[in-house]
Amino acid sequence: MPETIISASILNSDLADLKGIAVLVDESGAKWLHFDVMDGEFVENITFGSSVLHAVKPFSHAFLDVHLMVMHPQRQIKLFADAGADMITFHVESSCDPKAVIDEIHSLGVRAGIALKPGTPVSAAAPYIADADMVLVMTVEPGYGGQGFMHGMLDKIREVRALAPDKDIEVDGGINAETSKLVGEAGANVLVVGTYLFRSPDIREAVASLLPR
Ligand code: DX5
Ligand code: ZN
Repeated sequence: MPETIISASILNSDLADLKGIAVLVDESGAKWLHFDVMDGEFVENITFGSSVLHAVKPFSHAFLDVHLMVMHPQRQIKLFADAGADMITFHVESSCDPKAVIDEIHSLGVRAGIALKPGTPVSAAAPYIADADMVLVMTVEPGYGGQGFMHGMLDKIREVRALAPDKDIEVDGGINAETSKLVGEAGANVLVVGTYLFRSPDIREAVASLLPR
């Protein structure tokens, strides 16, 4: 299985100090920085676009992990690629041709991920997994940080791991020191973590508590 990576989600961090957050994450041991992009249509909330990623990039050494929760991912790909994204993940439930989206992301030299909402079966993404670099299994309903982990997603992670033994499998939502063990055993290796990291008194210790020992 690929190496375990922590992707720190800025959604529930101090958004008034993203420069400070980027530096803090660099020092924390988390290798990836996760951007939750919401358009008010695919989900009700609206967050930030490529200009925010562009502004943060000079202050971060992390791998920039973009999670598009938008209805029309194709409109965002070039913007995020130009802004410096290293991975762009879009939802299979959005309005798009997933194969064309993956190809466009790759044509811009960026890694491509495909995401599944909790209610979406693995079969919806299965035809595209071979082309994608990563599969994101949502472990909460997309839209907000700070929600409780959905234990029913563990079987789905196992199902994806069986189909993709060598790929990155990311989980997003409700990850903490306990649930990180469960998702790791099920086969996930990229853990998106927001609330647990940014509410902990020592982010380095929090990252260490999420990694297998
Ligand atoms: C939810 C977002 C998550 C969220 C995870 O739509 O995709 O990235 O920030 O945050 P926590 O760790 O707070 O569940
Ligand atoms: Zn996310």
